Amino acid sequence: MNEYLRRLVDKLNELRERRRAVILAHNYTLPEIQDAADFVGDSLELAIKAAETSADVIVLAGVRFMAEVAKLLNPDRIVLHPDLAAGCPLADFASPQLIRNAKKEHPGAPVVIYVNSYAAAKAESDYVVTSASAVEAVKRLETETVLFAPDKNLADWVQENNPDKKVIPVPRNGHCPVHEHLVSEYYVRKAKEEHPTARVLIHPEAPRPARKLADYVGSTSQMLRYIGKTDPRGEYILGTEEGLAYRAKRLYPEARVYPVSPRTICIDMKKVTLDKVVASLESLKPRIEIDPVIARRAREAVERGLELIGKKPK
Ligand code: 13P
Ligand code: SF4
Repeated sequence: MNEYLRRLVDKLNELRERRRAVILAHNYTLPEIQDAADFVGDSLELAIKAAETSADVIVLAGVRFMAEVAKLLNPDRIVLHPDLAAGCPLADFASPQLIRNAKKEHPGAPVVIYVNSYAAAKAESDYVVTSASAVEAVKRLETETVLFAPDKNLADWVQENNPDKKVIPVPRNGHCPVHEHLVSEYYVRKAKEEHPTARVLIHPEAPRPARKLADYVGSTSQMLRYIGKTDPRGEYILGTEEGLAYRAKRLYPEARVYPVSPRTICIDMKKVTLDKVVASLESLKPRIEIDPVIARRAREAVERGLELIGKKPK
């Protein structure tokens, strides 16, 4: 660790204690963020941790919708998001108007919305799910037709695993550019050629032809658990954002893990740098604030989604 980084980490530790803060980081964040965090996980784990914390201040090191979820579950706590410009192009596909229109077109069908969406869209929806919970949550719904926003690939994965349901993607073409274009069949085949004996793990945000090449499909943390259970010394191609490889190496130092391509980078996740985390803890800004009416409705959708999979916050 260089001197500059060491000083930043010292400052961070001092501020964390003084502010009674907890730092929650997503599996895709920069290595130094993962190392400094109190907890690193997937979207579902981050939501559950945020619901459980007793800290005065929550720093969400991830993209903005993740910080919004932490705020929805902690309306009275300070939730900091070190760079409000760290958005998610997938979340941008789900406007509140789009959800309202879809409900009008399919009256009676529940709206299941991926957590990769903003509070205003969640407020129009019935259940919030994550990549780890989507298949199971939809299975537990009583209705046959389900509207699923905004990721067409995750909707397709939910459909494949719920053949008795009719899962309608809203909109038709919502996708994460990182997974749609860089966890494609082409890149997965190329990685398999380079590492023919590696098992292939793919995120459900990837398109079906890429998923078909997988030994396992799951959320970022589900992939990590798969490595732990299958062979912590084995070889794995990670069909998702490259930051997960660092997390996998930390957890399983003897595993050989290869990102599906070195370009599989979510630039929004990388906007959250250590100096921004320190600055936000120092100034207690930027904070996440959500309109109270939207927040109440969005929180109810998050809680209904967690309840559906038996993880209702206390
Ligand atoms: P996970 O919930 O699987 O960590 O996914 C979040 C995400 O943004 C995937 O691109
Ligand atoms: Fe959004 Fe894709 Fe980045 Fe995940 S990887 S945060 S879905 S842009």
